[in-house]
Amino acid sequence: MNPEAAMVPAILETGDGVTAVAHPNIALVKYWGKRDESLILPATGSLSMTLNLYPTTTTVRLTTRAPADSVTMNSRPAPRQTHLRVERFLNTVRAFTGRDERAVVETTNTVPTGAGLASSASGFAALATAAATAFGLELDPRALSRLARRGSGSACRSIFGGLVVWHAGTGDGAAGDRSSYAEPIDAEGLDPALIIAVVDPAPKAMSSREAMRRTIATSPFYLPWTTVNATDLDAMRAAVARADLDAMGEIAERSAFGMHATMLAARPPIRYLSPLSLSVLDRVVALRADGITAYATMDAGPNVKVLCARTDATRIAAAISAVGQHISTHVALPGPGAALLPGGGS
Ligand code: PMV
Repeated sequence: MNPEAAMVPAILETGDGVTAVAHPNIALVKYWGKRDESLILPATGSLSMTLNLYPTTTTVRLTTRAPADSVTMNSRPAPRQTHLRVERFLNTVRAFTGRDERAVVETTNTVPTGAGLASSASGFAALATAAATAFGLELDPRALSRLARRGSGSACRSIFGGLVVWHAGTGDGAAGDRSSYAEPIDAEGLDPALIIAVVDPAPKAMSSREAMRRTIATSPFYLPWTTVNATDLDAMRAAVARADLDAMGEIAERSAFGMHATMLAARPPIRYLSPLSLSVLDRVVALRADGITAYATMDAGPNVKVLCARTDATRIAAAISAVGQHISTHVALPGPGAALLPGGGS
């Protein structure tokens, strides 16, 4: 695997504003549900691959003149919910530093937002990286991942490149906060790709935060899934260590299907998968019947991601595109961790 993928961000000071770039990650062992909502401590550990596609670029400028934070996304004022989340995150950073400047945040997102394509992971990883430096916080990569976690759980994994594990941590409060962080893992001997099959780029009807809440509160399948997912994480780490892509794929599929099963059993049920998602899943099964290593994973949205070997990626992407006229596929390889752009500005 590309050694560059495990790079950690270098902390650079910039003059007028600080700019950081981060990429989304896709979980192969899923995070679904929090044991602590305010600190965003997960119920289980998870494991992901950071992508080399869809970067988010975020600039943070501090000001003493404005009465409130301002947030723009792709040159437009951010929607109210996003604005509130960013403001809450910046309040956390201000509380850490004792500083009270307001921030002007400008984000450029290249991934469809809120479509289960991990835009919040790249978004909060980039914001945490830029805001920490803008506010003068000197954080090592582990501490930066803990900070990013406070914005969106999965964002802690996008601080690092390549394959990344997010430890659930132990305990509540400060002990839980200290022990729940992400770190990169060695992927020697693996050359994986993830095909992103976009079947619908529209924002999802229900946020993952809301869906997690309802699943925990009402799904009788949730608790058993957390037990199984913890053993799947151990099995996945062992499969990565022996560079066994087929075993990784099998575990990734069952983690994702299990997560969706918890939601389908929620009351009322939550269903993110569409008929087109199921058609893509059928094609993945058919590819496997032809002897091709291809395994699916799905997040809080209808889009499907297919884990395969890099050498097979182009032909698998073509086979999946052929499922339907409106499906677009993109081949993602392991990408880099979050990083500051030298020179600041945008
Ligand atoms: O970090 P959030 O709140 O966007 O949660 C993301 C959860 C999933 O994408 C469905 C799974 C995962 O582990 O990324």
